[in-house]
Amino acid sequence: MQRIFSGIQPSGIPTLGNYLGALRNWAALQDGHECIYCVVDLHAITAFQDPKELALQTREMAATLLAIGIDPTKHIVFLQSGVRAHAQLAWIFNCVARLGWLNRMTQFKDKAGKDRENASSGLYVYPNLMAADILAYHATRVPVGDDQRQHLELANDIAQKFNHDYGVDFFPNIEPLIMGPAARVMSLRDGTKKMSKSDPSDQSRINLNDDADTIALKVRRAKTDPEPLPSGIDGLANRPEARNLVGIYAALTDATHEDVLREHGGKGFGDYKKVLADLLVEKLTPIAAETKRLLADPPYVDAVLRDGARRAAAIADPIVAKAEDLVGFLRV
Ligand code: AMP
Ligand code: TRP
Repeated sequence: MQRIFSGIQPSGIPTLGNYLGALRNWAALQDGHECIYCVVDLHAITAFQDPKELALQTREMAATLLAIGIDPTKHIVFLQSGVRAHAQLAWIFNCVARLGWLNRMTQFKDKAGKDRENASSGLYVYPNLMAADILAYHATRVPVGDDQRQHLELANDIAQKFNHDYGVDFFPNIEPLIMGPAARVMSLRDGTKKMSKSDPSDQSRINLNDDADTIALKVRRAKTDPEPLPSGIDGLANRPEARNLVGIYAALTDATHEDVLREHGGKGFGDYKKVLADLLVEKLTPIAAETKRLLADPPYVDAVLRDGARRAAAIADPIVAKAEDLVGFLRV
């Protein structure tokens, strides 16, 4: 059985983009894989997080993973800071990855923005920690949204360079799983920008804890163009907002862009937004309700995470210990 690893940052409330691009695939892949899902709090602090908020959001993210149907008895759900192997292997990878490789990372450029000198050094080496997350488990398949493709290519470069430098065949090749018609969900305010938890405008995204009225309002206010929906996919060219709203519907109904246009092509956005909002409410509000139910019992969520960390460490510790031996650290 292939081992899956993926992670999500607790740097805010999970969005529809997280759900359609990643989380829903995490749940779907449970059958037939051994899955390890991690709330990556070490990654979250690459941008400052208020400590109290971070702790609350971390538990809320974990509860959301359980609410979407991840089974912590069959698979592993845990916090990155609770398994030391991640940071230990990341240090070794800091010494394997080349500055030139990191300089090419588009996410660093986006996140650091204009004031690069003021970005944390953690943000710069973020992809090395991500490679360590995956490779500490010898995981081979990684379900993520489209924005993580470049980081996974870097992880493979790191694995290969490690194997080459130390003359071993130790770290496996990683296969990205970038799935479905919503691998890149765009902002509701700007169809050329990714929907993000950290966007300053709450109107730009749907949060998994939004209530029915909020979802309907955000969809109603979503930016569109004046044309009706086209009847074929070619009609979505140069219409990023229309393409985004069609992709969301397609993902939620396990259909393709073409299927959605066959059903709704010709509708104006007024009508289409109503059906889309109803569908979103139907699919998302049960997740919010279940998350809330779980969060009423923090000791339960924490116990799941503690058990997950113990089981994760049992896999990662021997692999990282072996990597340390290969590097030549003396065991005394
Ligand atoms: P993050 O919120 O950056 O920790 O991302 C967690 C997961 O959600 C990653 O697999 C991302 O690729 C995915 N993701 C984040 N935003 C989007 C989006 N707008 N569309 C699709 N996937 C996304
Ligand atoms: N960098 C990923 C993101 O922001 C989160 C992440 C951290 C991750 N470690 C990972 C994803 C390991 C997949 C595998 O989306």
